[in-house]
Amino acid sequence: MKNNKVYRLFLLKGNRKNPADAEQMYVKRMAADQPKGSWTDFHLPEPHAYLWLPERGADEARVDYLLRVRTWGRRWADKARALPGSRWALTDLEWQDAEAVRALAESFLLNLYVFDTYKAERKAAPELTAVEAEGVTAADLTAMRERAAEVNWVKSLVERPVSDLNAAAFAREMAAHLKPLGVTAKLWTRKEMEKAGMGGLLGVNRGSVDEPAFAEFIYKPDNARNAKPVVLVGKGVVFDAGGMNIKTGNYMDDMKTDMAGGAMAAGILALAAKQALPLYIVALVPATDNRLNGNALVPGDIIRIGGETSVEIVNTDAEGRLLLADATAYAHKHYAPAAIISMATLTGAASRAIGTKGIVAMRERWPEAMAQCLERASEDVQERYCLFPMWPEYDRELESAVAELKNCGSGVAGMITAAKFVGHFAGKTPFLHLDVAGVAYYDKDESAWRKGATGMGVRWIGRFLELWSKK
Ligand code: BES
Ligand code: MN
Ligand code: ZN
Repeated sequence: MKNNKVYRLFLLKGNRKNPADAEQMYVKRMAADQPKGSWTDFHLPEPHAYLWLPERGADEARVDYLLRVRTWGRRWADKARALPGSRWALTDLEWQDAEAVRALAESFLLNLYVFDTYKAERKAAPELTAVEAEGVTAADLTAMRERAAEVNWVKSLVERPVSDLNAAAFAREMAAHLKPLGVTAKLWTRKEMEKAGMGGLLGVNRGSVDEPAFAEFIYKPDNARNAKPVVLVGKGVVFDAGGMNIKTGNYMDDMKTDMAGGAMAAGILALAAKQALPLYIVALVPATDNRLNGNALVPGDIIRIGGETSVEIVNTDAEGRLLLADATAYAHKHYAPAAIISMATLTGAASRAIGTKGIVAMRERWPEAMAQCLERASEDVQERYCLFPMWPEYDRELESAVAELKNCGSGVAGMITAAKFVGHFAGKTPFLHLDVAGVAYYDKDESAWRKGATGMGVRWIGRFLELWSKK
């Protein structure tokens, strides 16, 4: 049921001394007991609420501040969801910080999403109808809505359990979403995977009752500035039980989210297509579940990646890199790309290293100009990353006595050896690897993100491509 009322949210500075008018004075008095940066509901003639925003601390980094603002965007979304179908207008009374207003509004849009497909009662999502602030246009609001919609679409895929989204369904969903945006979608047959020698994908899939999938999405606008594409490679493990090295304890609990990298790659491509970026971009998503049956891979097995490189399987739970390696080898051979960006919930080591607040990134042969775009993009959208090294000494970790490589090292620097494994198949192509294991899915609300799938990284790399397309 749609409510005709529009709720107004007025933004005020956290530590104002002199209210500009009587209403603000009144509101200020009412709010005197509230902690700074709080939310106050006032039902004056029309429904409206005031949000006292925290001011930037004297030595607070801009990104930290904007993340704090985004946290208020999440809280505002929580409030709004309690009023299903409510419509909201945002008015900046005195804050006067357009970038922060946009961060707040976008965070609101992002945090409206809830995975309620299986709930008996599905509540109508609230809407943001207007943003009235200096420096924020109606076009800005539309762009934020579109970007948030893509991120929320990615979340909706990550949330779906494997019973509802197996590899083939995952590939079909992505294709259905991308085709109307002008993207060419090619869903490979098993024969084609066999012909390309995708021993990693097919090997992991041996333990599954479902067919594997390999999705190839091509966005190639006529005005593309690059002759060689940027290839995004995303891990599409729709459920990771660990295979024969079965996960113990509660380590299997959230493994429906192990395709977050694949969904992320598709989401980034969707964003690029929606924005009509003049860039040639390809997304590759190899997909399967990693379960176990009588035919599953076992430790000691030797497979071949890209029909060539032999790999000794030491641990069947290090499966993501096998799929990514097949896709990376194919990207390298078939496209001779300008750059390869792989993205995956790849290692527990990444989340142990820096926790849940940012993406672990590693790169080789990455040009300085592109490094600058990455950094700037991260600041622009307030998605954090931390660079880890790909020191050559760690190559030895992957040396095998019986094959050219083994699929995991001794346990030290697990996120680095995983990146090295995938990077091995990129040849001389600039290679960037994003380990999103720590950030793809939250089990509780954390700062700017609601619990559940976060879609983190989509806005960052989306913005990166946008900046790069202008270089
Ligand atoms: N999908 C997992 C990594 C993961 C862990 C993602 C926690 C999200 C949250 C991956 O396939 C995996 O099992 N990695 C192993 C690698 C090890 C066997 C070398 C790990 O990190 O323990
Ligand atoms: Mn695994
Ligand atoms: Zn996995």
